[in-house]
Amino acid sequence: MLTKKMEKALNEQINAEFYSSYLYLSMSAYFVRKNLPGFAHWMYIQTQEEAAHAMLFFNFVNERGGTAELKAVAKPDFNWTDPIKVFEAVLKHEQMVTGLINNLVDIAITEKDHATNNKLQWFVAEQVEEEANATEILEQLRIVEGKGQGLLLLDRELKTRVFVNPLLPGAAV
Ligand code: FEO
Repeated sequence: MLTKKMEKALNEQINAEFYSSYLYLSMSAYFVRKNLPGFAHWMYIQTQEEAAHAMLFFNFVNERGGTAELKAVAKPDFNWTDPIKVFEAVLKHEQMVTGLINNLVDIAITEKDHATNNKLQWFVAEQVEEEANATEILEQLRIVEGKGQGLLLLDRELKTRVFVNPLLPGAAV
């Protein structure tokens, strides 16, 4: 059984994850417009991954006998101006999400909700990966100054990303 405080915080996280999905979809559209299909593909996978994160929280609230309350998803920025600025925004966003996950862990601890804390540990590890991935791409973009042949090489590399669905059995806690 979830406490009301825990349930409210998890519902806010469902919304935050759907917003993340929406944000990356907006970024994917930018890269389509820029004729950078590899970056667009990477963002499209990110969109699916974030929607799966939202579903993991949604399923968990239901499993625990809570009420999943779906709120309106905010409109993301859409007028991106260059790839470096996009990945700066990705890193900043993921750092913010890490803060949200850490806050959820803090609530789970104060509510003595060990099951939620256990569930959240997968997300704690996931955020390490999310920040590392964003940092790596951002730094590589900075090396090539976000343009030229270096940008095209990076685009080819990002095209190879494969979606690993965390909703599949055994993929996440
Ligand atoms: Fe749902 Fe990008 O973390």
